[in-house]
Amino acid sequence: MGHKGVKKPALRLEIPALRGNRKHCLCETCNIEQWDSDEPVPRSELLEKVAGIRGLYCLLTEKIDAKVLDAAGPSLRVVSTMSVGYDHVSLEELKKRGIRLGYTPDVLTEAVAELTVALLLATSRRLLEAVDEAKNGGWGTWKPLWMCGYGLTDSTVGILGLGRIGAAVMARLKPFGVKRFLYADAGPRPDMATKIPAEFVPLDELARHSDVIVVCCALTPETQGICGNSLFSRMKDTAIFINTSRGGVVNQEALYQALVNGQIAAAGLDVTEPEPLPTDHPLFKLKNCVILPHIASATVATRNAMAALAASNLLAGLQGKAMGKEVPL
Ligand code: DGY
Repeated sequence: MGHKGVKKPALRLEIPALRGNRKHCLCETCNIEQWDSDEPVPRSELLEKVAGIRGLYCLLTEKIDAKVLDAAGPSLRVVSTMSVGYDHVSLEELKKRGIRLGYTPDVLTEAVAELTVALLLATSRRLLEAVDEAKNGGWGTWKPLWMCGYGLTDSTVGILGLGRIGAAVMARLKPFGVKRFLYADAGPRPDMATKIPAEFVPLDELARHSDVIVVCCALTPETQGICGNSLFSRMKDTAIFINTSRGGVVNQEALYQALVNGQIAAAGLDVTEPEPLPTDHPLFKLKNCVILPHIASATVATRNAMAALAASNLLAGLQGKAMGKEVPL
């Protein structure tokens, strides 16, 4: 029987990101200038095409700063990003101009939590290394100590940044037999912590007691580089470090040193700084570092939900109505 080829997933972004391949179309509600490609819109094209627009639908790949907002001019009233993170958008510049911002929390929580658990297990049980060994002849006889990693049963898991995603990660990890959940954040979050339950601790303590640390916090000026030498040096040498939030929260040089020097056992990263991480980056050379290309929310249903929410936020904002999900500025 002939090979039928791989069927593409049914990804239908009902109101696609306002990216514009010089296509100018008229929908019932508004004129849309669309960059019709999965590749990010070139900065020069963005700067040219935003002139005189009222609403901007963007992705996390577009830096929305003073330059873009100036290029758009005073007509711009709403920015809607198809992402839960909005560190690519200058809130200060939006606020100055009275521009509203929509984003897409909640609809991606489950997908991101699921991928976080997958990345954790792939890292702690050394799945990628084991697959390589099996394929490349490293698989000899069964050996008692070969390819041993770390399990979750009776472990302590520390969450850095206990929001919706952190809580969803904990709920998924609980059935694995985790004994204790800790979390560090700007302050206690009893709304999120009581269901599990999880104990609020200072970051130092989180580092000292956790067998696994999962980073779920947003990238802000306060969290920029928060996972650095002072965190890694306090962690157990058997600990696993997982980041599915933003690359900027990690000092990658410090992480590299911690992995090479055996300060921690392994790391799993879905996000890096920069993205894409250059293929010759030293972290790619380490067997105890699993790197994914920022795919935590990449399920067909989730991306469709994000696209639809971002579009409805934009339309509501343009009509001067309450957005489904709006960042308070
Ligand atoms: C977001 O939405 O901010 C994620 O990082 C991408 O899904």
